[in-house]
Amino acid sequence: MEKTDLKKLLSEMTIAEKVGQLVQLTPDFFLAGGEITGPMQEWKMSKEQLFQIGSVLGTHTSEQVMKIQEMYLEKSRLKIPLVFMADVIHGYESIYPIPLALAATFSPEIVEEVARLSSKEATEAGVHVTFSPMGDHVMDARWGRVLESNGEDPTLSSALTRGYVRGYQGNDLSIEKNRMAACVKHFVGYGAAQGGRDYNTVDISHVNLYQNYLPAFQAAIDEGVELVMTSFNTMDGIPVTGNKQMIQKVLRGDLGFEGVVISDWAAVVELIAHRVAADKKEAAELAFSAGVDMDMMSDSYQTHLAEIVLEKEQQEILDEAVFRILTLKNTLGLFEDPYRGLKEQTPEQLKQTKKELKQSILSISEKTPVLLKNEDNVLPLKEGQKVALIGPKARSQDILGAWSWIGEQEKAISLAKGLKEKDLDLSILAMEDGQNVTENEIEQAIQLAKENEIVLLAVGETSEESGEAASLVNIRLSRNQEQLIHAVSKVNANVVVVLFNGRPLDLSNIVVDTRAILEVWFPGSEGGRSIANLLMGEVNPEGKLPMSFPRAVGQLPLSYMSLSTGRPMHDGNNDQKYISRYMDEANDPLFSFGHGLSYCQFECLDNGISQHSFTEDQTVEVQVLVKNKSQIAGGTTVQLYIEDVVAQVARPVKELKKWEKIYLNAKEERMITFELSSDDLKYIHHDLSMSAEKGLFNLSIGLSSQERSIHHELLYVV
Ligand code: NOJ
Repeated sequence: MEKTDLKKLLSEMTIAEKVGQLVQLTPDFFLAGGEITGPMQEWKMSKEQLFQIGSVLGTHTSEQVMKIQEMYLEKSRLKIPLVFMADVIHGYESIYPIPLALAATFSPEIVEEVARLSSKEATEAGVHVTFSPMGDHVMDARWGRVLESNGEDPTLSSALTRGYVRGYQGNDLSIEKNRMAACVKHFVGYGAAQGGRDYNTVDISHVNLYQNYLPAFQAAIDEGVELVMTSFNTMDGIPVTGNKQMIQKVLRGDLGFEGVVISDWAAVVELIAHRVAADKKEAAELAFSAGVDMDMMSDSYQTHLAEIVLEKEQQEILDEAVFRILTLKNTLGLFEDPYRGLKEQTPEQLKQTKKELKQSILSISEKTPVLLKNEDNVLPLKEGQKVALIGPKARSQDILGAWSWIGEQEKAISLAKGLKEKDLDLSILAMEDGQNVTENEIEQAIQLAKENEIVLLAVGETSEESGEAASLVNIRLSRNQEQLIHAVSKVNANVVVVLFNGRPLDLSNIVVDTRAILEVWFPGSEGGRSIANLLMGEVNPEGKLPMSFPRAVGQLPLSYMSLSTGRPMHDGNNDQKYISRYMDEANDPLFSFGHGLSYCQFECLDNGISQHSFTEDQTVEVQVLVKNKSQIAGGTTVQLYIEDVVAQVARPVKELKKWEKIYLNAKEERMITFELSSDDLKYIHHDLSMSAEKGLFNLSIGLSSQERSIHHELLYVV
C-alpha cells in the first residue's frame, strides 16, 4: 500500500477503531469464536471492540493464525489485518542453544543464521513479529534472564544484536515472507534489577546508561529494527513504560527510533502497582503520553484511551501511534496478503525447513560450549576408555531452556542418547532431573565411578531455574549435586563435569574436584549429539565466556570491565587492608569474560603495530600471528582490549574493542590484523557527549580478558 493510501485509511477510522489498533491480546480472546467468555468478560470488552484490536501475541500454529485472521477480516469493519507476534527467542519448535550460549560464539554471523532460520520456521507457523533480540546489559548472574542476554560486554552485545536483527528482518519484509520483524527489548535498564531480583528497582547513572545500556539498542535501531519493547523497571524513579524522558527524549530523540513502541506484558496496568498511577485510566494516560504505542495484554488502552484522547485533545498523538502500527503492517505486506504466504505453503517446504534447522542447530550447538578447565588434557575421551555417565542431566531432555515455550522437548537429544551413538564402553546412571540426588544414588554413583576410568557428571539447572522470574540468591549447584561431585571425585581422579545451565554459576566448591568442566548451557534440540561430538574430540570446543563466572555470589554484580578505583588492588598490595578488595575472597572472577579452552594449543605472537601515535583521521593496524601448535584442527577467538590510561571520567581497567574468530588446521599459523580508529577510543563524558580524548592507551591482545600475551602503547594526538 502507498503511504497516501495508509493516510486515507487512517482518516476513515473512528476513535474506537484507532484505539483498537493499539491493543494486543492473546489468541484465547478469539478462539471461542468471538464469544464473550473468560478474560473478555472480566475486561468488559464487547464483541465489536474485539474485532477492532490491532494485534495478537502467542499463537501456536499456522491453522490458528489463519482461523483468527479469517474470522477477524470477516467481522471487522475496515478489514485491517491483525499482526501476529510471539516470543521466538532462540528458535520456534526447533531450538538452538540459549542466547547466552550463542554469545559464546562471539559471532554476529552465527546469530544471524540462527535468526534467519528461526524466522523461517516461525513465519511458516504464522508469526509476523518476534520479541527478540534482548539487548539488555547484564552483570548479575542472580538475575535469571541473563540466559536471554548477549552477556556483559556492550560492544559484543551490540554486534550480536545487529546480527539478530539482520537475520530476522532480511532486506525487505514485504517480499521476504520467511523473515519477520524484530522487537528489541527491554528498553531500558531491566538487567540492572537491584539484588538480581526480577522486576525490582533499577537505579543507574546516566553516564552508565549511555555507555553500557543504550549501545545495543542503538545498534538494533541502526540496523532498522521495527519495534522496541519498554521494560517493567524504573529509570530515575519512573517506570519506563510511563517515562516520557526515556521514550521521547532518549529513544525517539537521542537514538532516533521511528518504529512501534510496545509495552511489555501488562506493564501499562502495572503502573498502578508501581504507585505512579491511581487507576487504569491514569495508567493509560501516563503510558500513552510517554509514547507507548501498543498496550500488550492489559485493558487500560482498550477501556480508557478514547476518553483520554478526547479529554486531553491528543488526537494527533493517537494518529501518529496508529500510523506507526499501520506502517508496520504495511511493511510486512499484510494489506496485500494478510496470511503472508501461509495459504501457498506446501508440506514439502515445511519438511525442508525442519531438515535445514536440524543441521544448522547441530553445527551451531557444537560451537557454543565453553571448555572451562581441562587438566592434563583429560578430554577428549580416549579410545578404549571405560566411561561412566552419571547425573540428573544424563538422560534429561530438559535441555532447551526456559524460552522454548513450544520447543519440541520430547524430540531433544539427551546426552545419553548422543553418547550411545558413539563407539564407546559406556555405563549410565541417570537420576531424575529436578529431584534431589539421594544418598542411595550417591552410593551407586561411587560404585560405578570405581569401575570406570573416567566419569562424566552431567549436572546443572532445570529450565525452570533460569529465565524470567527465576532469580536466585544462591547460584551454586543445587539439589545435592555438589555432594555427588565430591563423593565421586574421592574414588575417581578423572571427573569431568558437563554443566547444563542458563547463567554463570558459582563453581568454587566443585572446581578442585574436577579434572575438566565443559559448560554446555541449555544446548537446544541437538544438545546431546553435539556434546558427544565434543567429548569424543570429533569437534573441538571453541566457545568463549560472554559473562564472567564469579568465585562467590557476593561478588555480584561483576564484570571484567570494572572501573578504576581510588584504591586499586594489585600484586604488590593484596595483603593490605584499606584497598578495594574483599577480605574473604579474591576480586577477580573464577572464570573471566573471554575465557574458553580448546583441545588445540594456540599461541598469539606479536607482529607489530603500524604506528605508536595517531590522529583522528588515521587508522592503526595491529598484527598478530596466531599459531596452532597442536596436531589437530580447531577454532578460537583472538581478543583485543584497550585501557585508557588517563581520562576525564573513570574508565574500565580493560575493554574489549576488537575480536576475530579464527580456525586453524593442525600446525597451521595465520596472520590477523586488527584496525583501530579514534572511534574505538570514544566514550561517554559527564555531559553525555561521546568523544575520544588525546593521550595514552594500552592495548593488549590474547585469548581471554585475563590471558593477554601481546602489549602495545598507543598515543592518540588530536
Ligand atoms: C514478558 C517478558 O518480559 C518479555 O520478554 C516477553 O517478550 C513478553 N512477556 C511477551 O511474552
